[in-house]
Amino acid sequence: MKVDKNRLPIHIGFIMDGNGRWATKRGMPRKFGHKRGADVLEKIVDYCFNIGIKYVSVFAFSTENWKRPKEEVDYIFNLLRDYIRKQNEKNTNQRQKEIEQKNIQIHTMGDLTKIPKDLYDEILKIKTETNDCDKFVLNIAMNYGGRDDIVYAVNKLLKANKKEINERDISSALYTADIPDPDFIIRTAGDVRLSNFMLYQSAYAELYFTKTLWPDFKPKHLDKALKNYTKRNRKFGNVN
Ligand code: IPE
Ligand code: IPE
Ligand code: MG
Repeated sequence: MKVDKNRLPIHIGFIMDGNGRWATKRGMPRKFGHKRGADVLEKIVDYCFNIGIKYVSVFAFSTENWKRPKEEVDYIFNLLRDYIRKQNEKNTNQRQKEIEQKNIQIHTMGDLTKIPKDLYDEILKIKTETNDCDKFVLNIAMNYGGRDDIVYAVNKLLKANKKEINERDISSALYTADIPDPDFIIRTAGDVRLSNFMLYQSAYAELYFTKTLWPDFKPKHLDKALKNYTKRNRKFGNVN
């Protein structure tokens, strides 16, 4: 990778969009796009790990995605189940122990009480098992909405009997309490919007939109995005 490593983002968020269009373009059912998208997710996460990114957040399922046909929703959760199961197996297999070697912590954001129970149980297991891993954090947004995140945080603060709250209180009550704000958010597939992704946390994130559909997204596309990021001047309201 030909970018200045010292200027890389610490936390990247991916809005992985375009799976459906990728499949439709090929005359295939949308689920093929989701399958291919899950494979791309694995490759891109590995790549981020290898180039030294510390936090990666991926938008897997939004609070609004329940509007989709049940068959598609079920299929997406099946893919997530496969992904988590694969990570769990790697974790328990003494010879591979890939997660521990690689030191990947699995984190989630979103209301998990609404997702299938068996997936919920597997996620709790992997979250507990990888809790000590500190080299890399993969934060999976599942049944996640930025607005829901803020409402959840405020309710948490109310339950703690807080009378007056500040920005720091909200930040530390969000699903991302232990995770720094994203520096860079990449959305694939051409739409120029956040679709309810990390609304509070993205206040000063650099945004990047590419027409490339998520199933076509490769490390070379990420390199191009990162090169663009390293040239930006992040001012945070200051003069330069
Ligand atoms: C993103 O791809 C994956 C999810 C939202 C789960 P889409 O399924 O939204 O793909 P398009 O936008 O219809 O092409
Ligand atoms: C955002 O994509 C959600 C995920 C990538 C999981 P959508 O495809 O749901 O967003 P809209 O509907 O185009 O805004
Ligand atoms: Mg979409």
